[in-house]
Amino acid sequence: MNDDISLLLQGYAAMNPNKALWEKGDFTRIARSMRESGEALVQSLRLTKGLKVLDLGCGDGTTALPAARLGADVLGVDIAQNLVDAGNRRAKEHGLTNCKFQEGDASNLHDLEDQAFDLVVSIFGAMFAPKPFDVAREMVRVTRSGGRIVMGNWIPGHPTLVAQILKISSSYTPPPPEGFVSPMTWGVENNVIERFGMAGIPAGHIAFAQDTFTFNYPNAPSALLQEFRAYYGPTMSAFEAAEKNGLAGDLQKELEELFNRENKSPDKNATSIPATFLRVTVAV
Ligand SMILES: C[S@@+](CC[C@H](N)C(=O)[O-])C[C@H]1O[C@@H](n2cnc3c(N)ncnc32)[C@H](O)[C@@H]1O
Repeated sequence: MNDDISLLLQGYAAMNPNKALWEKGDFTRIARSMRESGEALVQSLRLTKGLKVLDLGCGDGTTALPAARLGADVLGVDIAQNLVDAGNRRAKEHGLTNCKFQEGDASNLHDLEDQAFDLVVSIFGAMFAPKPFDVAREMVRVTRSGGRIVMGNWIPGHPTLVAQILKISSSYTPPPPEGFVSPMTWGVENNVIERFGMAGIPAGHIAFAQDTFTFNYPNAPSALLQEFRAYYGPTMSAFEAAEKNGLAGDLQKELEELFNRENKSPDKNATSIPATFLRVTVAV
């Protein structure tokens, strides 16, 4: 093949913007501040030994590892190869042979069989995949009849941390391509009902609750913001765009105000920021 064309094709194959967004950062740096809430969420799932669990958009295993520690048989799937590697490393370090991570796209889980899992969990994961109707269909397909799907989704316009980070970040980033569906639409109950409805789930099988994830960090809020700026894909992209327009200082200031305002730690040199999300439970 002509070298120019083969290079072009390689470039095209590598260019999945959804994957690139999460691989360019290092979400493990953020996930460290989320471990306690991950543990608490898993505790609330009433897992039993040997339960087959898929953690979709699992990152480095904030929920997958605690689920495996409770005896579930866990597969973590994530689009970012660096996070899959980090998850497998952490499972090994913790001696968990019942917890494996592999690369995959929540919009198309082609290598997973129908009804393979008792429980599909996706905490701030599948919401970031494109094609939300495909995501709902795939989650339902791989869940056994009588099983459950539990999603955690940030809520658009909510005044707490992550919804506001994403809102502020998007106001500094160029508009997305036509047809792009915002991940935040997963935080709206009617959208969730419509998406699972298209996958054959009646509205009466879907329950909603507001829940909280707390970001704990052993340093001041400005230091946690620095982690987001350096390692969290959506914030990194916002700063790149803002820098081109000379607006990085404004973005930094807006985010600093947000992190300081939301910090509930009595110790000025520590951070504890609760963030509200929509918890969705689907009976399949
Ligand atoms: C905010 S992080 C949450 C990670 C993890 N669930 C946690 O709570 O720590 C979002 C995760 O979704 C993953 N992700 C984004 N798009 C995805 C897709 N299409 N399929 C699978 N995972 C995806 C990202 O790579 C990232 O690990």
